Amino acid sequence: MQKVYTKVTDSLNFFQDINPYELAQKYGTPLYVYNESILRNRCRDLKNFVSYPNFVVDYSAKANSNIAFLQIVKSEGLEVDAMSPGEIYAELKAGFAPSEIFYISNNVSEDEMRYAIEKNVVISVDSLSQLEMYGRLNPGGEVAIRFNPGIGAGHHEKVVTAGKKTKFAVDPEFIPEVKKILEKYSLKLIGINQHIGSLFMDGTDFVSSISALLQIAKQFDNLKFVDLGGGFGIPYHKEEDQPRLDLTLLGKQIDDALYSFAKEYGKEIIFRIEPGRYISAESSVILGQVNAVKYNHGNKFIGCDIGFNVLARPIMYDSYHGVEIFRESDKKSEKNEEVTIVGNICESGDILANHRNLPEIFENDLLCVLDAGAYGHVMSSNYNNRLRPAEVLIRENNEIVLIRERDTLDDIISKQIPLY
Ligand code: LLP
Repeated sequence: MQKVYTKVTDSLNFFQDINPYELAQKYGTPLYVYNESILRNRCRDLKNFVSYPNFVVDYSAKANSNIAFLQIVKSEGLEVDAMSPGEIYAELKAGFAPSEIFYISNNVSEDEMRYAIEKNVVISVDSLSQLEMYGRLNPGGEVAIRFNPGIGAGHHEKVVTAGKKTKFAVDPEFIPEVKKILEKYSLKLIGINQHIGSLFMDGTDFVSSISALLQIAKQFDNLKFVDLGGGFGIPYHKEEDQPRLDLTLLGKQIDDALYSFAKEYGKEIIFRIEPGRYISAESSVILGQVNAVKYNHGNKFIGCDIGFNVLARPIMYDSYHGVEIFRESDKKSEKNEEVTIVGNICESGDILANHRNLPEIFENDLLCVLDAGAYGHVMSSNYNNRLRPAEVLIRENNEIVLIRERDTLDDIISKQIPLY
């Protein structure tokens, strides 16, 4: 096998002793491949980047909720957040105790809220109407509230979740109304939380949002925790040596804010964060096969089996993912050239990588899409009645474990009810 263009996976030792072609042959493509050791390292980065002692890292499972993946995260001592009963269900299956799960709800039904209450999972509500709903369902209960600190951040407008243009969280202007509802139902407000958006590479806005959230925290007397949210970015342009988020600097800034708040608040308080992408993104790649190479009005297209049903981020957010190339034959790429890598879905927007300068790519090459572990498989679909990919894990000892089977054709129609 030739490594035609493999700078990043080589430098990370992503495949360890494993030949990616053998993985592709055994499990088929497209295929999500995970590296356990990278996942563990990312968990450790965030567990240790602040010195404040009562600090809990809740992995945000929406980024990747595969149960085997969650089990590794749990074994690293992280807790989890959840966005739905489905995530709570998977987390319980993965072995998290209800007390290690934090349900950050948004516009949920009574049934969904009741599910969390019955499972003894702490729930955060993000509107006055949902606080009322909680009060009706569980008077005297312990609840958390998500506030909007007024500062948002993120890699795309669709993922900025605080500030002036978002559906999320309670505007602090409504704190008097919040207090009335808490009193009306004898609720105990045990936590407040925020999430300002997804993917910041510079912690400035995050640090400002912490000050804003802590101002809100001071207005409530008996909090057990304050949750600062997620959003910690990863460098998607690794082949261009994009720098990483400076965790040392950010850790120090966060520490300063937390120690001084804890002193002023006068009661022991737990701080939490809920990163999804930082923990999961870099531990996975997608392997896909090149099925066609063509010119169309002067543009060169590389047609592969990684459509937007497999990885939705490029079509949804114009996201960039690095692409590497492996080749089974000895055929040489004579030059670099500009190509557009596309999938097999019947929409023109099905573009995985736009106008990339890469070594010449041929049919049957194996493409390797980097940083696919966050919002990758969880956002995949059966659009065009395509099969969602399998997921395999390369363990630290080089063992390969299948952690999700590829869909079958029967899976696609299994819930449908034909007329005759
Ligand atoms: N907490 C809450 C309440 C969230 O809504 C999110 C993400 C997180 C934590 C974790 O954020 P992270 O640390 O992963 O940035 N699909 C988009 C990202 C959507 C993020 C949704 N909420 C993408 O592929 O970029």
